[in-house]
Amino acid sequence: MARVETSSDRPYHLVIFGASGFTGQFVVEEVARTVSEDPKGNTKWAVAGRSRQKLEKVLEQAAGVLNKPNLRTQVDIIVADVAEPDSLAAMCKQAVIVLNCVGPYRFFGEPVVKACVENGAHHIDISGEPQFLESMQLNYNSQAAEKGVYIIGSCGFDSIPADMGVIYTRDQFKGTLTALESFLTVSFGPDGGHIHDGTWQSAIYGLADRSNLRGLRKKFNHKPLPSVGSKLKHRGALFYSNEIQQYAIPFMGSDPAVVKRTQRFLAEEHRATPVQYGAYAGVGGVGNLIKMMFAAMIFWFLVKFSFGRNLLIKYPEFFSYGFFSKAGPTRKQMEGSSFQFSFYGQGYTEDQDPSQGKPNAKIRTLVQGPECGYVATPIAMVQAALTILYEPAALPKRGGVYTPGAAFAKTTLVDRLNKHGIRFSVI
Ligand SMILES: NC(=O)c1ccc[n+]([C@@H]2O[C@H](COP(=O)([O-])OP(=O)(O)OC[C@H]3O[C@@H](n4cnc5c(N)ncnc54)[C@H](OP(=O)(O)O)[C@@H]3O)[C@@H](O)[C@H]2O)c1
Repeated sequence: MARVETSSDRPYHLVIFGASGFTGQFVVEEVARTVSEDPKGNTKWAVAGRSRQKLEKVLEQAAGVLNKPNLRTQVDIIVADVAEPDSLAAMCKQAVIVLNCVGPYRFFGEPVVKACVENGAHHIDISGEPQFLESMQLNYNSQAAEKGVYIIGSCGFDSIPADMGVIYTRDQFKGTLTALESFLTVSFGPDGGHIHDGTWQSAIYGLADRSNLRGLRKKFNHKPLPSVGSKLKHRGALFYSNEIQQYAIPFMGSDPAVVKRTQRFLAEEHRATPVQYGAYAGVGGVGNLIKMMFAAMIFWFLVKFSFGRNLLIKYPEFFSYGFFSKAGPTRKQMEGSSFQFSFYGQGYTEDQDPSQGKPNAKIRTLVQGPECGYVATPIAMVQAALTILYEPAALPKRGGVYTPGAAFAKTTLVDRLNKHGIRFSVI
């Protein structure tokens, strides 16, 4: 496959911005591991961030972990700060693709997107913040299209497994898939698991600002998506799921919003039948359920007030039973953790009209992978970036602001993920 190439003016295929962050350090390791698979070995990349010293430390650490002592000297460092637009422009001019790990994106994301659009670099992020993702679509889609730049959000655990899982299931279904539910379960090893504070903060600010999201969505002036086939019933706020044999709640992350945007794009641009989607997450047995409800009540109360948000931000461990922490998970905890999305779909066989009667066929698929935040996310982000690099002809014809499903529906991203530990299968 013909790769998008660098030039003397734009010397790096990939620039990891925010490489010194908790997630950024694992993206650095994933890039270092993955580019060594390139038979020609000439993928050029650099790390970027606001502190040269921290970036040097990250490279040193990655060199030790991966046993690649040359990493420190072979990988260039770019100093760039979100608060200094000239430094962002200089960074973006040097990159074919910026892998942006600087969050919360609601505070730091827009200047980076703007600099990428203005300076011709594609942009991948791992945001799980619908307000940020959708406001970038509203404000930069036309400009990005004019410049031929792809701005592709939510390319981490939020929301590649769900969004590409829906597309994979649709592609495997013999006929017209009209409705799909996913059930997420997460497992931890004997050492348990944590999520880093960066994601906790993104969630707090995002939930505090949900009312603005409704206003933002009105500005798109979208017509409702046509619902084809039997209407998918929404489950309750809490129910026992026979599918995953445990209690489940509606999934609170960005997946449903991202999938909906993808389905709208595919329906409007490719006349595809939109798939109705319901996303749920398992919470375990009764003991877990009581703990979770208690934590959720306190969280929902505190997140409404500025003093409450400050408390939540100061004491993540206390308010999340230790699930979110400023230290993040250890490597041992990450090794013991995994996720599974079980998809249950229904639709109509090729000889049946989806506008008539009840669905007459079902499908079940799985998307499984390693620890969500710092193993699966770097894999998904890096494979998304390599897909832009190696498969430009399979991307949407015009640049623009896209969801992963909209950007990658016609690429081999699912195959790439399968080869790197995020496995899609029909069961
Ligand atoms: N999609 C997913 O599933 C997923 C998974 C993991 C993380 N995430 C998201 O990724 C984001 C980062 O999370 P994290 O836990 O890695 O957070 P983090 O450890 O706090 O990292 C934040 C990064 O942003 C950098 N930064 C902050 N202000 C900056 C500025 N003005 N200019 C340049 N760089 C700046 C920090 O640089 P310094 O090191 O210099 O402070 C650091 O590199 C969050 O939004 C999180 O929600 C998403």
